[in-house]
Amino acid sequence: MSSTPLSEIHYHIGTPITLAGWAYNFRSSGSIFFVQLRDGTGRIQCVISKKDVSPETWAACAQLTLETSIEVTGTVRAEPRSPTGYEMSVTGLKIIAQAAEYPIGKKEHGVDFLMDHRHLWLRSERQEAILKIRDEIVFSWREFMRKKGFILTDSPIFTPNACEGTSTLFSTDYFDETAYLTQSGQLYLEATSAALGSTYCFGPTFRAEKSKTRRHLTEFWMLEAEASFYDWQDNMRMQEELVVYTVQQVLANRAAELRTLERDITVLTTTIQGAFPRVSYDDAILQLQKLGSDIKHGDDLGADDETILTKQYDRPIFIHHYPVDVKAFYMKPDPANPKQVLNDDLLAPEGYGEVIGGSQRIDDLQLLEDRIKQHKLPREAFEWYLDLRRYGSVPHSGFGIGLERAVAWICGLDHVRETTPFPRLINRLKP
Ligand code: 4AD
Ligand code: MG
Repeated sequence: MSSTPLSEIHYHIGTPITLAGWAYNFRSSGSIFFVQLRDGTGRIQCVISKKDVSPETWAACAQLTLETSIEVTGTVRAEPRSPTGYEMSVTGLKIIAQAAEYPIGKKEHGVDFLMDHRHLWLRSERQEAILKIRDEIVFSWREFMRKKGFILTDSPIFTPNACEGTSTLFSTDYFDETAYLTQSGQLYLEATSAALGSTYCFGPTFRAEKSKTRRHLTEFWMLEAEASFYDWQDNMRMQEELVVYTVQQVLANRAAELRTLERDITVLTTTIQGAFPRVSYDDAILQLQKLGSDIKHGDDLGADDETILTKQYDRPIFIHHYPVDVKAFYMKPDPANPKQVLNDDLLAPEGYGEVIGGSQRIDDLQLLEDRIKQHKLPREAFEWYLDLRRYGSVPHSGFGIGLERAVAWICGLDHVRETTPFPRLINRLKP
């Protein structure tokens, strides 16, 4: 089949071409028939005049149902009144496969219905736009990491132990043992960064999150970076640059999709530029208390606290120096105040909250052994990780950025369920 993708029609104005796609809408007015065609790369209106086509083509029009796959031949011309800028005058239309009655109609459907039909819902203009922006973000991340000299070293998905706490582990039979689905590739990255200097991994991550919130998935994608001879401040600068680069790339390459989503891009175009405010945990607690939160010093920030706090700023903010007790075992305590760790959470603006978690890691063997004990983690499973402190330990830091949360924020979505083709949530494993 040699059809022209809609993304390339501007090269073919005025010459006969064939398009192939799906009829996502149509209407007739007497002797003229209008078909809205989409092929994944674009959308166009095709106009069929009874007088210009064969009786077979005219008859095929009458058979069209929503999402019928078709081939249309004709000539494309610029049409300023059309949202896509072009229109096709059709000389022939052929049905490839007629669609049965399409379950997603023009009427409003509830979220559960749409999620049950996710495999079809993906065809909507909105979902198409979100997935294209997701693709753009992924590409920009890989490009950014390469430009910064980080080497991709993927971490395993089957793991023998927890990285981010034992309460959110999925376990699975692994022959005669139990394996856990990875919560984070970080521990393995610490090994590869001692081999290659600066490394990253990017893959699926699993958390048995019991929370039913707009920002938790049980399976999500995370890009994690790890760098030797990096302290927690270098770490924040790197995160800042990554976020700025990502937003610039999306604005440059996916402006049309942002318009489709009716995303108000004021924040994206004006404040995602340079140094994001660094707010200490202590300051954050004081601010929150003034704003009416009942949070106490020593508590972790809840989702609501993050939302309230981000609304005080017009750009992303770092919260650093969390209490040791609310964070993971591997975070390095600040030598000047060992009750707090050299970590940061990056909170996205506009109420979105945490998109990145990062920290400097404990590089001292004894301290790391103590922390493993305090966290009641199985020592044997961590022997290899302790080796990294036995053989040439160095100051090192890293972070993880959640893809779905980044997509939700950049697209301006109110739930992560639309950020990934087939979301996995506490109450959803299908389709
Ligand atoms: O803050 P987290 O748990 O950090 C880590 O896993 C570190 N080991 C990363 C590192 O330093 N290499 O998770 C990092 C990010 C969060 O900020 C969030 O964006 C995302 O991963 N995330 C989730 N996204 C969707 N659903 C969930 N249940 C998520 N849990 C974390
Ligand atoms: Mg976190």
